[in-house]
Amino acid sequence: MLQYRERYRPQYHFSAEHGWLNDPNGLVFFNGEYHLFYQHHPFGKTWGPMHWGHAVSKDLVHWQHLPVALYPDHLGTIFSGSAVVDWSDTSGFFGGEPGLVAIFTHSEARGQVQSLAYSTDRGRSWKKYDGNPVLTQFAQEDFRDPKVFWHEPTKQWIMVVAGGKVRIYSSPNLREWVLRSENEIWTECPDLFELAVDGDPRTTKWVLSLGGRKYYIGTFDGERFIPEIGPLPMNYGPDAYAAQTFNDEPRGRRIMISWMNNWEYANSLSSVTDPWNGTMTLPCELSLKTFPEGTRLVQRPVPELQQLRRAHRRFAGQTVRSGANPVAGLRGVQLEIIAEFETGTATEFGIKVRMGGEEETVVGYRTADHVLFLDRNRSGQALSGVYEAPMVAENSRVKMHLFIDWSSLEVFGNDGKVAITSLMFPDPASDGVEVYATGGEVNLVSLDVYELGSIWGEDETTRRKQQCSSHGGMSRLLPK
Ligand code: FRU
Repeated sequence: MLQYRERYRPQYHFSAEHGWLNDPNGLVFFNGEYHLFYQHHPFGKTWGPMHWGHAVSKDLVHWQHLPVALYPDHLGTIFSGSAVVDWSDTSGFFGGEPGLVAIFTHSEARGQVQSLAYSTDRGRSWKKYDGNPVLTQFAQEDFRDPKVFWHEPTKQWIMVVAGGKVRIYSSPNLREWVLRSENEIWTECPDLFELAVDGDPRTTKWVLSLGGRKYYIGTFDGERFIPEIGPLPMNYGPDAYAAQTFNDEPRGRRIMISWMNNWEYANSLSSVTDPWNGTMTLPCELSLKTFPEGTRLVQRPVPELQQLRRAHRRFAGQTVRSGANPVAGLRGVQLEIIAEFETGTATEFGIKVRMGGEEETVVGYRTADHVLFLDRNRSGQALSGVYEAPMVAENSRVKMHLFIDWSSLEVFGNDGKVAITSLMFPDPASDGVEVYATGGEVNLVSLDVYELGSIWGEDETTRRKQQCSSHGGMSRLLPK
């Protein structure tokens, strides 16, 4: 099968079948399905007249493509927005039944306004509301990317919407909106949600996400968000933007997906990937945790992804020093690596992936200034840069959790305290893995590596075969 096997095609990340993709939109769970809509130009590989592409998943891992949900119309093209389940039919669109409502920006030369569309058939077909637009107050400014959710304590819909300021509106019925407050913050794609602190549901805080690049922690009373901490970086890598979290997640989790790209070069990557351009990050669960320096957002890839694990190898209790690679011969491209180091005399240590010829991509830790970094200067074509995150070792331990795909690397440090997300375009043949240390020794406490299956067109039989063979010597993951 050729499709989804093209050069650089992500094998377990979401990408459109063809054409341009940017922001995730309308993330919502309804009737057993997670919905992922996305900014989409179906007729080109660069940004153009925006549509909402659409896919559904039962497990956040395997996605089924559905037809384009929203097309441009006489009010403009369809920019970013969100979707809600209108459980008690406050909108009056559903004859008393629950249904899906999308709240999005209509964008055109005259300005940006907020509009509605609704679906009575589980998102399979969409009708634009004939009273559109429903919110035009700041049409002359940047005024876009409404994220709407139900606020139970005040029993109303809340919209957080971006532009020159972050504005908060409320509504009883999704059709009439009243401005409640403004914050002098420029962002795109804001999100606002409540999280338990340290897993205690009696102690909660609100998080205001600025497009997934930065966040504030504070309070929200149904009218006003008051920041207490921040802004702090949310992702230290170059390629996590326009993040959105799911409404109505069935287990009450707060799960986020970002566009794995950067406006600085996103359009130019149309010369690198074909017939698509644009990928989503893995879904991550967010939580708030207290550290010595204060409360911080923690993000971890959802456990559902573990079903993709195939062949496994474990290395433990090895001393790593210059010139000795304890995982010699290890290869692979679709990999998950979980490593724990105990710092020693080494000034720098870590994991090199996608090695081959002159190419390597480095995830390293520098002990002197307590920095976790991702270096893609020798990663392959198109992109470069070194991206650093401050991360103090905890009890002399440094944990690195890596997801490697054909054109991306997601790194989570110390159980999700820091995240570094990056695209990369190495030669497909660059599949070497190395554990390294310089300036001394480091103890590799453990390293687990899993080959990951594909979410595209990998049938049950292949999957079972792969699982069986993982008990013997298998595939590219293992040394010959
Ligand atoms: C963010 C963004 C949004 C806008 C959309 C247009 O990446 O610029 O502000 O709605 O993309 O595609």
